[in-house]
Amino acid sequence: MTPYVEPSRREGASPQPALAPRVTLENVSKDFHSHQGKLHVLDSVSLQIGAGEFFCLLGPSGCGKSTLFNIIAGLERPDSGQVLVDGRPVTGPGPDRVVVFQDGALFPWLTVRGNVEFGLAMRGLPRAAIRERAMAVLDLVRLSRFADACIHELSGGMRQRVSIARALALEPRILLMDEPFAALDAQTRNVMQEELQRIWAQTGQTVIFVTHNVAEAIRLGDRVAVLSFRPGQLKREVSIPNPRPRLSDDPRLLEIRTFILRDLRADVHAAVEEELADE
Ligand SMILES: Nc1ncnc2c1ncn2[C@@H]1O[C@H](COP(=O)(O)OP(=O)(O)OP(=O)(O)O)[C@@H](O)[C@H]1O
Ligand SMILES: [Mg+2]
Repeated sequence: MTPYVEPSRREGASPQPALAPRVTLENVSKDFHSHQGKLHVLDSVSLQIGAGEFFCLLGPSGCGKSTLFNIIAGLERPDSGQVLVDGRPVTGPGPDRVVVFQDGALFPWLTVRGNVEFGLAMRGLPRAAIRERAMAVLDLVRLSRFADACIHELSGGMRQRVSIARALALEPRILLMDEPFAALDAQTRNVMQEELQRIWAQTGQTVIFVTHNVAEAIRLGDRVAVLSFRPGQLKREVSIPNPRPRLSDDPRLLEIRTFILRDLRADVHAAVEEELADE
């Protein structure tokens, strides 16, 4: 097998997305102040995410992925630098960016359909349009049969489908996902990765997907940005040119996985050491 060569190092290949930039990060830095003192979490992170791109943000636990994610979502402010969406600076959350978290954050007192319809009702859409759009996205995530089910009747994978449907119903230009499958068992996670590839192919949305799982990042992403541990800097961007749908055991993916794992080894060690030191 020929050794893996980063696309950006291949002759003629461009490290930047060929698509028009949807999200631009310019020198984003962030510190937190905790009981341990000042924590320099993000250090001058600059990158571009193309319109319609599936972009994965990868890095060891505690490296600042969620912090960067929250800054893009507008839930957190950077200390310096800025985020632009379609050329306009982000100053807070907005309808162009919808977030899916690890736990789904569903309303347990509403049905599946009620959860999906909630955000649409908040936007003041007419009743019939709300119903129609909710059913269309439930169909997309293959949950139409469960429209009237209660949340507690659903498995973890089904709950995550509801939260994806709820986000898609709002038709955001950017879908932000922070470790959405981390709480699922390995088999369900595998199915959800397949499903997300299918859904993304149908919607063509820009997706920013955060994970600490290398296999997941390279299976899903057009591009994977790797963050280093403390301070979180953009260590590397890797383009994944493999055709979709991608299988988890694709040998070409395994090669890229080994490459990234080797690259991240020292950062993962540093992250684990720090977690152990905290105990
Ligand atoms: N509001 C906060 N106040 C103080 N420290 C914080 C705050 N939020 C995050 N941190 C710290 O900043 C660092 C980065 O946290 P962050 O949640 O962004 O990491 P992460 O890469 O998402 O980790 P994980 O993979 O475990 O989700 C961690 O050390 C965390 O403890
Ligand atoms: Mg996180």
